[in-house]
Amino acid sequence: MTSKDREIVGNYEVSDQGIMTRREVLMMGAMAAGGLLSAAPAMAAAPGVAAAAATGQAASAIYVAKDFSNLTKGMDGFSASQIEQHLKLYKGYIGKSNEIYDKLKEVDLATANATYSPLRELLMEESFAMNGAIYHEFYFGNLGGKGGEPTGDLKNALEDRWGSTGKFMDYLKAAGKSMRGWVVIGYNTRGSHLSAFGLDSHNMWAPANVVPILVLDVYEHAYMVDYGIERPKYLDAFVKNLDWDVVAKRFDATKHHPSGAASTT
Ligand SMILES: [Fe+2]
Repeated sequence: MTSKDREIVGNYEVSDQGIMTRREVLMMGAMAAGGLLSAAPAMAAAPGVAAAAATGQAASAIYVAKDFSNLTKGMDGFSASQIEQHLKLYKGYIGKSNEIYDKLKEVDLATANATYSPLRELLMEESFAMNGAIYHEFYFGNLGGKGGEPTGDLKNALEDRWGSTGKFMDYLKAAGKSMRGWVVIGYNTRGSHLSAFGLDSHNMWAPANVVPILVLDVYEHAYMVDYGIERPKYLDAFVKNLDWDVVAKRFDATKHHPSGAASTT
């Protein structure tokens, strides 16, 4: 992987292969600050998550980007431009996941070394690329709803862990201000309760026994177009567009199959 392929801006990866360039990142900030990018008008329908044949990916690709284009059609608090830029980033992680998957098939095992080796590099970056894709699918999948309050078993589980749904929302927003990458609410398979964890990078600090059911992206790229550096305003918009039905379905599926990953839809 060369420096031409990849560079780090702030807390996240951009590349010259269709994700975002440094110039684009700076332009996004400048445009947002200048009010050139407006907030979206009306409410969007729930996002479609069918495999995206329109992504231009080879049919043989092991990872295929899901279609979240419905989110660009007018969520209150998220402009189409914001979502489009974010989806571009997501598709970049899908592309890199496929690239690494293919390279792992032919990597030289004889040079394996824990200080540096192609195998070590591929294994580390595989978790970064795959988690970058999967966490984004969880995130986009639980956007496009109408916010409000959870119900049923999910509400009960949130209350058991945080006391009330109101306290949970306060906790979620506070966690969103505390992390640099992700906040994840998940089903803890060791104790059957809900847990929260935070990540500063896609492949750091995720406990292996917590299956995600609600994912919040707090990287600057998730809100810079619409809110500049005003993260609290973005967190309000996220909560307002949270799809509790999707979160409840993940919770229900994970309870019944706790050893497997929840659906990202
Ligand atoms: Fe993101």
